[in-house]
This record gives sequence, C-alpha cells and structure tokens, in this order.
Amino acid sequence: MNPPSGDAEPLRRLEPVVPALGPPPEDIGTGHPMRAVTERIVAQPGWWGPDVAADVAGRFDELAGTWDTRSSSAEASVGLLDALDRGGPFAGPVVELGAGTGSGTAVLADRLGPVVAVDLAAAMLRRLDVPGAVRVRADAAALPFRDHSVGTLVCVNAFLFAAEVRRVLRAGGALVWVNTLGERTPIHLSDAAVVEALGIEVRAVSSRAGWSTWVVARPVR
Ligand SMILES: C[S@@+](CC[C@H](N)C(=O)[O-])C[C@H]1O[C@@H](n2cnc3c(N)ncnc32)[C@H](O)[C@@H]1O
Repeated sequence: MNPPSGDAEPLRRLEPVVPALGPPPEDIGTGHPMRAVTERIVAQPGWWGPDVAADVAGRFDELAGTWDTRSSSAEASVGLLDALDRGGPFAGPVVELGAGTGSGTAVLADRLGPVVAVDLAAAMLRRLDVPGAVRVRADAAALPFRDHSVGTLVCVNAFLFAAEVRRVLRAGGALVWVNTLGERTPIHLSDAAVVEALGIEVRAVSSRAGWSTWVVARPVR
C-alpha cells in the first residue's frame, strides 16, 4: 500500500465535514495529570520506565470498572470513523495501542478487519471483548512486534511512543492518532505535535469531527 502521492506538504489540514453539535464538552484535559504524562513522554522519551508504567497501569486498572460509562459510543467513535473515512488507505496488520475496553477496537474490527488490541492495564484489557480482536498485554514503549511489521497503528486517547511507532510501522504504513474530546482530552497532542514527535519525514492529514481531533501520519521512507 503506497502513501498518497503528488502532495509534498508534510501536514495537510482537511476541512471538517462532521459538525460539532451542542455545547463544547467540559475541559477535563488541560490540567489532568495524564496530560503532563502525555507531554513528558514526547519531550523526554527516556523518562518512561517500569516504575512509571506500573503507576499508570495501576491507575487505569482502578478506572476499568467504570470506563465504559464515561462517554457515549457515538462521541467516542466520531473522530476515528472520520479518520478512517478520509485518512486512508489503511493496510493490515492493524494494531491498536492503549485499546482500553475496546470502544475503538470495535470500530477498527468492523472497518478494517482483524485487530491486535494492546494495553498495559490488565483490568482494562479483560473487559475488551470484540469479535475479530486479539488482546495483547504489553507496554507500547516496548512492543512485542518485529521491525516494520505493522501496517496500521492506532492510538485513541493513548500515549505516543514515537520510537516504537517508527520501528514497527512498515513502509507506507499509517499512524492514526485520535483525541475524542479534541484539545479537551487528557491524553492530547495537536496534529503538529504528533508530526514533530515522530521525528522523521512524514505525510500527514488531520481534521476535526464533532469535538474530536485526528491525524493520520505516514512515514516517508
Ligand atoms: C485514556 S485510556 C484510552 C482507552 C481507549 N483507547 C478509549 O479511548 O477508551 C488510555 C489507555 O492506554 C493504556 N496505556 C497506558 N499506558 C500504556 C502503555 N505504555 N502501553 C499500552 N497501553 C497503555 C491504559 O491502560 C488505558 O487503557
């Protein structure tokens, strides 16, 4: 599968086609401790290690029981659906990082076929029950996949470990980055920040859908 050709711009912003309805959601992201973690992983990659991973996994294990009550499935999937509709084409294997209880996984399995759903928190992953998905408990900072073996990597409100994205994505592969509440999402990076964090030449497209933001970035190799 080849990246879109004939377009030399590293980041192309597409006009939104899915309007944001109703009042903006509450900003639960800006001051959230996970926002600081998100930004630190990008700014200081060596900071993430077993102690931080254990702390983060413990926090999400505690949240797992009520995770699915936090948003409607429509709210959770509008950005991912728009990214898949307008950011393609996408090739397999498809791997979702920080899959949680699987709200994005179900969309991916429906649209793209089999998915490998990766998460660090055992209690989150136990609740992920999506036909067509294989669950893998692993740290996205040290993925159990061979170099250049993944066609599509997806992060829905999940941390960006850029070195692993660079390592596992195959030529022409895509990183799909979605923040379901846009800038109000705790685990949020702007489109430009995602492109910069990847640290290699990419072709990227981004947009908004509802209150979500998304970017699809493809390494140019
Ligand atoms: C904000 S939740 C998002 C879950 C799901 N994608 C969603 O949108 O509902 C972040 C998820 O990433 C997982 N996570 C955190 N650090 C991780 C890591 N280093 N590797 C894999 N998963 C991780 C957490 O356990 C949690 O399930």
